[in-house]
Amino acid sequence: MKFPEHIAVIMDGNGRWAKKRLLPRSAGHRAGMNRMIALSEHAFDRGVKYFTLYALSTENLNRPAEELDGLMKLFREYFAENAEMLRKKHITLRVIGDLSLLPADVSAIIGDGVRRTAGGERGVLTLAIGYGARQEIVAAVNRAVRAGKEVSEADFADMLSTAGVPDPDLLIRTGKEKRLSNFLLWQCSYTELYFTDRLFPDFSDGDLDAAIEDYARRDRRYGRTE
Ligand code: IPE
Ligand code: IPE
Ligand code: MG
Repeated sequence: MKFPEHIAVIMDGNGRWAKKRLLPRSAGHRAGMNRMIALSEHAFDRGVKYFTLYALSTENLNRPAEELDGLMKLFREYFAENAEMLRKKHITLRVIGDLSLLPADVSAIIGDGVRRTAGGERGVLTLAIGYGARQEIVAAVNRAVRAGKEVSEADFADMLSTAGVPDPDLLIRTGKEKRLSNFLLWQCSYTELYFTDRLFPDFSDGDLDAAIEDYARRDRRYGRTE
């Protein structure tokens, strides 16, 4: 049976989850973070090798200061409390995105978590924070220009922040919208897409299993006839 070695998730719908319950958006983000921790664990238990989560886009940085402050608080908490747990479970933490866009102490605590988990061999958990695919591609183009030579597809992939990580087999977006919102535009050129109405805090381990089963039935042709 086909099994996705790399699953990426656009974790959308925290705000609407909170609104439905007459709670502030911050409560939705907290519920989303708790779900993200448990879901990552489930994914690695299922045998997924690479699990990539879109936590904050470059464009999300234009949200009101109050919401961003709340999100930064959650990131501080997440890295302070989870890096050690991930290290013990031999999961390597990677973060992609422009950390210079985040408060200095948040980018420092992220750097610390990444260093502490380096070399974990059970799997790679990548969090996209302050991430935008177009910005990533332009940065890679500029790197190639500075190097002063033409690049192959493989060279170019190595210049992206995801260097060394295979392209996602399956991309899941929760929260009803059917768009990529500037996520992994280069890496997802042949990725299987799965959209669900489920709001992220409600996206259960069983829902992930259902997406994996759906993937197993897909026919990945890569342009061939069979
Ligand atoms: C996703 O939830 C989390 C982030 C983008 C930070 P949203 O905050 O976008 O939730 P909705 O889409 O408003 O419900
Ligand atoms: C996409 O969600 C980004 C993340 C989940 C981090 P958004 O809520 O920002 O996407 P749009 O605005 O609906 O496209
Ligand atoms: Mg949203």
